[in-house]
Amino acid sequence: MEGSVRVEGKIDARARAMRQRLENAQSEDLYYYNQPIEELCGGARVRTGGREMLMFASYSYLGLIGHPRINAAAEAAIEEFGTGTHGVRLLAGTLKLHNELEATIAAFKHTEDAVTFSSGYVTNLTAISTMVGRHDAVICDKLDHASIVDGCLLSGADFVRFKHNDMADLERCLKKTAGRAARLVVVDAVFSMDGDITDLPAVAELCQKYGAWLMVDEAHSVGVLGKTGHGIEEHFGLDGVIDLKMGTLSKTIPSVGGYLAGRHDLMQLFRHESRAFIFSAALPPAQAAAARAAFEVIEDEPERVETLRKNAARFTRGLKQLGFDTMRTETAIVPVLCGTDDLAFGMVRDCQHDNIFVLPVVSPAVPIGQARLRATVTAVHTATEIDTALGVLQLAGQRVGII
Ligand SMILES: Cc1ncc(COP(=O)(O)O)c(C=O)c1O
Repeated sequence: MEGSVRVEGKIDARARAMRQRLENAQSEDLYYYNQPIEELCGGARVRTGGREMLMFASYSYLGLIGHPRINAAAEAAIEEFGTGTHGVRLLAGTLKLHNELEATIAAFKHTEDAVTFSSGYVTNLTAISTMVGRHDAVICDKLDHASIVDGCLLSGADFVRFKHNDMADLERCLKKTAGRAARLVVVDAVFSMDGDITDLPAVAELCQKYGAWLMVDEAHSVGVLGKTGHGIEEHFGLDGVIDLKMGTLSKTIPSVGGYLAGRHDLMQLFRHESRAFIFSAALPPAQAAAARAAFEVIEDEPERVETLRKNAARFTRGLKQLGFDTMRTETAIVPVLCGTDDLAFGMVRDCQHDNIFVLPVVSPAVPIGQARLRATVTAVHTATEIDTALGVLQLAGQRVGII
């Protein structure tokens, strides 16, 4: 209305408080988020602020970003289809690239069918809120990813959480929710803050015993778990115990987007009832083609998975020998426990000064007092690069006093 003035309120106060917090952190040389990457310098190095740094914060676990075959697939897709998708697939048409990608994912994940969405975050939101609603229950591990939590809240189902990887507590939740029209258990395959692995055999057995559906988020599992990188079922030598496998196309797979893989009729339900499919645009051609090529590269170059495993073991072993607490990691996500947020920020500053690109995770993403560096190892780190990082971390840890 002409002449009206909005009274300063809660949103202004929050924005001002955030600005103040960021300015303080920057003035104390403690702000390292959102760094502009100027160049990828091959392998595990990036250029930022004019300096070449060793990257220990990448989810490109198998080092597939820039792989010639994947780049070529993206270029050919642009040549053929341009850069856009006309909008929603249901109405504007599904590119053959989408169908090819979904068939490739289904084959890779040993399922009847798969369906893709424009982000991994949105995939969890839409999967959970399509499958369950009022009168149902959704049961999650306490450390499940935020996108799972948000999907549960959006669904309107009763949202029940069990203690991290505690099967007795999961059973308690399943007993407590008996009689619901539908029950869905959702777990991360690899927990994104701690790097440990869900107890799939026990979770699957409990789901079967109590007639619950099982969905597993494999964001950090594809390319990482299993001898040939096929994920958590391969890791445990199980096949077909998961009803719905979710994954992202933004980590090991160097693209963007998310997928669901499972029974054909369930995928058709998502293609016709999930809001992220029917009200949001499809993956762009280049990203769909790149993702498909990446799954093929994993099949053709399985030695990358073994290298990743060796690199992660070398890094974690080295950190432990130096006296760091790497919590319960079993994978390429390696937390380095610092304690307070200030200690974590101090560690990062020292590491960044010495050209190791690593970032902190602080509250509320992790509990207060458990601030940490969340380092990630990839298949393209060399042994020398890992040892260099260990040397820098040792100095930083000694300087801030955590080792
Ligand atoms: C476990 C897990 N699930 C889902 C997502 C969301 O995936 P995306 O970044 O592709 O949206 C992430 C991203 O960090 C994740 O770690």
